Amino acid sequence: MLEKIFKDVRARIRGMKNRVLGALTEKGILVEPDALNALVQAPDAMRCVQLISDDHENRPLILTRTDVESYLECLSTERPPKAGKKTVERPVTRSPEKAAGQPSPASGMRILKDITGDSTCVGNVIDFAKLFNDRFVTLKKMLAKRRELSGLVSIARAKRVQRDVRFVGMVNDVRSTKQGHTMLELEDEEDKVQVLVMKTAPRVLLGSFIKDEVVGVIGSFSKDGEIVLAKDFVRPDVPLNSGMVQNGADSIVAFVSDIHVGSTEFMEDAWERFMAWLAKDPVAKEIRYIVMPGDLVDGIGIYPGQEDELAIEDVYDQYNELARLAAKIPERIKIVMMPGNHDAVRLAEPQPALPKEVTSMFDSRVTFVGNPCYMDIEGRIILAYHGRSMDDFVANVRSLSYREPEKIMADMLRRRHMAPIYGEKTAIAPEQKDYLVIDRVPEIFVTGHIHACKVDEYRGIKLINASAWQSQTAFQRMHNQIPDPAKVPMVDLGSGESWVEDFSS
Ligand SMILES: [Fe+2]
Repeated sequence: MLEKIFKDVRARIRGMKNRVLGALTEKGILVEPDALNALVQAPDAMRCVQLISDDHENRPLILTRTDVESYLECLSTERPPKAGKKTVERPVTRSPEKAAGQPSPASGMRILKDITGDSTCVGNVIDFAKLFNDRFVTLKKMLAKRRELSGLVSIARAKRVQRDVRFVGMVNDVRSTKQGHTMLELEDEEDKVQVLVMKTAPRVLLGSFIKDEVVGVIGSFSKDGEIVLAKDFVRPDVPLNSGMVQNGADSIVAFVSDIHVGSTEFMEDAWERFMAWLAKDPVAKEIRYIVMPGDLVDGIGIYPGQEDELAIEDVYDQYNELARLAAKIPERIKIVMMPGNHDAVRLAEPQPALPKEVTSMFDSRVTFVGNPCYMDIEGRIILAYHGRSMDDFVANVRSLSYREPEKIMADMLRRRHMAPIYGEKTAIAPEQKDYLVIDRVPEIFVTGHIHACKVDEYRGIKLINASAWQSQTAFQRMHNQIPDPAKVPMVDLGSGESWVEDFSS
């Protein structure tokens, strides 16, 4: 009997070893015997294998036991599934241990990158060529580091080689064939090629290609040498990490988006509740920064019939009212204001900070930044982007919807670009450098625009869609958009803990 049990166990272990080895070898990963034993004994071996396979940027060529242990640790610290990721319970008191024995916090705030003061574009064809070339070169460099793309060649060289090829291209065109396959046209600096994605390809790939994104292709040429038959695609993506670790900072940052001052639907009562809370709540006392990622005011002439929904019809009066409201925010709090598509600055992205006529209405606590903007607040890298391109992502990527802005944000990170598609709703300014490339991995990525309130995580990066202060407009009603307003997502910059305060009633 015992012998039969041992035999069964040995057979099961052998089976598991084969599965693990098979899955890793398929990805070109060699496994040391110790590492294999550690993996097989792990309670969730195949999840760990998946994690290693997905870690395109950092996974080693030869997997050691130490590597396995660090991936297993990553798994164990992974946040619970989506519903649990949104921390809605706020801490009543701050952890006392934070003060003692923790690393010294980086102090203050620095703007790391935005377009303000650096705009060079005049809008001609040469400028657009420079913009797309900069995007291609930056993203190709990221992709060239990926092990799946080792042996990368140019498209022209791939055409000469013909056999198994790996190359990087910018998507020029996406179309469906009569047989239901997907045909892409990809180009690099000197050539272009047709790439066929069979309809039997994994669902995650089908319907995911968008114009002007940069992807890596693994494939081989058809017999006539005209078309590449795609085996796999590689997106630049962000490396896997287990999230923010304690850095000793002792402030909270709050995210307040889409205030829409001047709209008849601006929620003044909810705003007053927020102000009262800021003035007296013990947790609020530790808020030292408020980041406002766009649509500060409602603007004028933004959508048809907007004039019927304006309580303040002059855009400068709208900013004056915003300045009055901002002056009531407690003085200890520094404020970062970014424009969105409703604000009084050029619509084309990247948008520079608001002009002097507007900024002069505010006190020196307010820092005006462009859209998008990288900033460092007490040692945390925050990428803030208003999010206009979410409209284009929803219109072009089958799996994305307005209901899940966090998935759109993860998709931006995967493509390492905030607004890749040219010529749709998001106007793109022909700057010589592409400010919408995600060339640095942030710790917090915040957007607005959707008027939803979501807190999530992607590969250790905190994703925040920061609600709104406008109840449903007639325009939104017509488009069946249901906002989730008057909520304030917050992040403790020291611990990385996040939660949402609700002022909607
Ligand atoms: Fe908005």
